[in-house]
Amino acid sequence: MSALLVREAGVFRHFSGFKVFRRKVHGSGLIRFVFRHRWMKVLPFWSGCRRMSSRSNKEAVDLSVFPVERIRNFCIIAHIDHGKSTLADRLLEITGAISAADKNRQVLDQLQVERERGITVKAQTASLFYSHQGAPHLLNLIDTPGHVDFSYEVSRSISACQGVLLIVDANQGIQAQTVANFYLAFEAQLAIVPVINKIDLKNADPERVEAQIEKVFDIPRDECIRISAKLGTNVDKVLEAVVERIPPPAVQPDSPLRALVFDSNFDHYRGVLANVALFGGSMKKGDRIMSAHLMKTYEVQELGILRPHETPASKLFAGQVGYVIAGMKDVKEAQIGDTLFHQDRPVEPLPGFKPAKPMVFAGMFPMDQSEYSGLRSAIERLTLNDSSVAVQKDSSLALGAGWRLGFLGLLHMEVFNQRLEQEFNASVIVTAPTVPYKALLSSPKLIKEHGGEELTIVNPAQFPDRSVISQYQEPIVIGTILAPDLYTGKIMALCLNRRGVQKNMVYIDDQRVMMKYLFPLNEIVVDFYDLLKSMSSGYASFDYENAGYQAADLIKMDILLNGRPVEELTTIVHKERAYSSGKAMCERLRDSIPRQMFEIAVQAAIGSKVIARETIKAYKKNVLAKCYGGDITRKMKLLKRQAEGKKKMRRIGNVDVPKDAFISVLKRKDK
Ligand code: GTP
Repeated sequence: MSALLVREAGVFRHFSGFKVFRRKVHGSGLIRFVFRHRWMKVLPFWSGCRRMSSRSNKEAVDLSVFPVERIRNFCIIAHIDHGKSTLADRLLEITGAISAADKNRQVLDQLQVERERGITVKAQTASLFYSHQGAPHLLNLIDTPGHVDFSYEVSRSISACQGVLLIVDANQGIQAQTVANFYLAFEAQLAIVPVINKIDLKNADPERVEAQIEKVFDIPRDECIRISAKLGTNVDKVLEAVVERIPPPAVQPDSPLRALVFDSNFDHYRGVLANVALFGGSMKKGDRIMSAHLMKTYEVQELGILRPHETPASKLFAGQVGYVIAGMKDVKEAQIGDTLFHQDRPVEPLPGFKPAKPMVFAGMFPMDQSEYSGLRSAIERLTLNDSSVAVQKDSSLALGAGWRLGFLGLLHMEVFNQRLEQEFNASVIVTAPTVPYKALLSSPKLIKEHGGEELTIVNPAQFPDRSVISQYQEPIVIGTILAPDLYTGKIMALCLNRRGVQKNMVYIDDQRVMMKYLFPLNEIVVDFYDLLKSMSSGYASFDYENAGYQAADLIKMDILLNGRPVEELTTIVHKERAYSSGKAMCERLRDSIPRQMFEIAVQAAIGSKVIARETIKAYKKNVLAKCYGGDITRKMKLLKRQAEGKKKMRRIGNVDVPKDAFISVLKRKDK
């Protein structure tokens, strides 16, 4: 069925079942849509409009019944998989925001990749109506992601809240992201309600977890609430604690409007939907508002709360969290951290937050240059909803035109890639990921050309020669590892092997150790976490945060296939590691490239000097050679299978390389 666009006060809506028949410009300047339905010959615009307005009037909620003292804004934070989304589901269910039919469907994880991978990637807001001691309360909850790559989502969600529910798994206890998230909330001076989840599990040990919480976070154990989000046990106590322990927002209702944009989404029909927290004043439909960042004026077309679906409201008041649609065409207009205010009452902007900093860069190219424009629009549309991806045009001799994209981490990059494939059917070549290195230029000519001494390198192909620099620098992070002490020896060996420098080590109870290490980012970004998990039978957890740059002896290493450099595999390595990492990459390529009709030499080289070599032997025989005469079906099958296999290959010279080899080749196998 076709969709019909109806323009109502600048807001685009679509109805299915109708077909746009003709578009007329009305004398008043309004665009009139005249449309046909299967059953109706012609239906004028106005009847659609009437229906729309009556619908929105009926749905518009009156939020004036919630004075500031009856509002609570909080987010749910935890280590990955400790049950945030399950608890959010239960809270939505108890307060009637979702029906029992949606039970256990993790309604706040709306993206296909979130459901498939069982992880939260994007923070989601939901407003709940809850009656406490007979008084109606408005509770705004934000469900946040747990993985370290998305901690930016946590920090900006925190800025819209006065409290957090800190969830800890009763079986696993405090983990690395529990510590990291606790400090985010603690530094923002939010009320922290500790919740011990999964008490229904056989191995649950809530006493031990309470003791850990007391020791590590200095929160008295009797403040912990023991729950099972899955079964709903004690979830009502969590709601009571939200009202009793989290303070209402400290705002002045009579002050001018000050709304913080803490998230934004792009809707193809209606433009940007900005998630806002009102720190002062109020906002209603028709208001003329300005953004402090761009100083552009907009008219509020719709506003409301998320329950978790958009529910229009007649007005948003100080202290409330909701959404605003104001005809912004691009998420860049609703910059995260920006302040919105009334055009005629300018205010001092709120402090906002630092923009997300990409930690991993990779080239992204279409499999075939004819798919370039399709891929461009897919990347544009995806980045509209994910402003933390940095996009820069790139091109290379071997791969043609493409982009260099910056991500918050490797999981973020994988999720982006998966969404490109699933939501836009785009097939891409991704080059080996690299971290942003720096070089301090020494040549006055280059400094002048570049406009400064410091050069950031996000593409190994642009790595400057040693002769024109005074120093190379690599990004470093401070990593937190939590694990049972049984594995301490193995973990320390792994960290040492990754050039880690130990900073601290404490016992959080009689069995678990917390270690802090300074690591070069490139040593941990690809596979460190997987290795840590597997060597600790899944019991260790890891989190890291930026710790600046340090001087490093870096060199560029090329990989050659039959003498031809493979641009996607060019990497920057630490000099100390060049030989071992070149050798390991050649070995892994040897194992991941299928044998072909001829011998293939795989080499690692620094400049013109080859430092490692492996050989992929040729097929001994042609598998198709014997398929003649009556064997035609078998021959067709083999040819089809070969053709299908080749679609997932990239041809370099005359060698076919599997698409995923470019990333898997970087994964080391530490003992
Ligand atoms: P991320 O968003 O990826 O960080 O995960 P999360 O913290 O939102 O965890 P999620 O709610 O997705 O739950 C992770 C797993 O734990 C799921 O398989 C849930 O069914 C399970 N789970 C959550 N709460 C409970 C509980 O109270 N008891 C038991 N037994 N399992 C639970």
